[in-house]
Amino acid sequence: MSFGSTWDWIRHLANPIPRHLAAMGYARGLRQLDSRGRRCRLAWRPHVERSRALMLEAADRCARNRKAVVIGSGPLFDIPVAELSRRFREVVLVDILHLRQVRSAVRRYPNVRLRCADVTGVVEEVHAMAQRGRRLALPERKPDFFPGEDADLVVSANILSQLPLAPVRYATRKKNGPAPWWVKAFSRRLVVDHLDWLASLAGNVCLISDLERLYCDGEDVVCRDGSLRGVDLPEGGRRWLWDLAPKPELDPRYDVRHVVAGYAQFPKRVWLERKRPGNTRDDLELSDGTKRPVFEQARHKDQTPP
Ligand SMILES: C[S@@+](CC[C@H](N)C(=O)[O-])C[C@H]1O[C@@H](n2cnc3c(N)ncnc32)[C@H](O)[C@@H]1O
Repeated sequence: MSFGSTWDWIRHLANPIPRHLAAMGYARGLRQLDSRGRRCRLAWRPHVERSRALMLEAADRCARNRKAVVIGSGPLFDIPVAELSRRFREVVLVDILHLRQVRSAVRRYPNVRLRCADVTGVVEEVHAMAQRGRRLALPERKPDFFPGEDADLVVSANILSQLPLAPVRYATRKKNGPAPWWVKAFSRRLVVDHLDWLASLAGNVCLISDLERLYCDGEDVVCRDGSLRGVDLPEGGRRWLWDLAPKPELDPRYDVRHVVAGYAQFPKRVWLERKRPGNTRDDLELSDGTKRPVFEQARHKDQTPP
């Protein structure tokens, strides 16, 4: 990390990065995202403009304009901070960490607050389990991990598919790392839990998330990979392409694109009333946790899938 001035150094000492987040690569990930966003600024522009427009459309749909909460604000590429600050009495930008430049950028908006929070509520637990070399259990849900109930608008800003990445990468690097079924079940649970949480909120919810990653040779799609671990989002909303990494940014031969879904008003009821899986042994674990005892027994006997 480089420090531009004594003041930056003092600020770093005042807000050190928690050790477990540094070890799990969150700070590095944010800096890489920031650099890629700058390098690919032109390619990202249509996606950034669509995302910002959708968030403002979501703001238009709010019954009241007291508080907006943005989850996954990151380096703020796709967040219309100035407009949100004009429209809402209070704006809270939430990320697991905030970059120094983000702290400086928001200082000019007196009603914009930064909050560092792990919106899964399980990151520290995964770190501790992996550190102790313990076989990993699926961390319990934390229903009160983040208070968003009083917001008129909650925006989930391109974070949904990212939630499992750092914990899984960290856990799988360790000795006694988790089995593939754990990775699959854990990742899927974080995605479902985030959507359940959004759907439980009273205010309007704007959701923007990648659905698929495409590897493209010109206009030909040579490979596509789902981003949401088999979770289907409700019908509706908008779809667009995000030129995430034109070659050779991530691959020397292929352009990498994301198919993005955006909802100015996430259909909370449709999500909550969806048909849940539940007929297979794998699904027992993946549904809503009510069958947890079956899973727990299997976990203690051995580490094979229940
Ligand atoms: C793809 S980026 C979002 C980019 C951002 N919306 C922008 O346009 O600049 C995903 C963000 O999610 C954050 N993130 C990942 N896991 C998180 C967690 N468990 N809790 C809170 N934030 C998390 C990352 O730090 C990153 O900033």
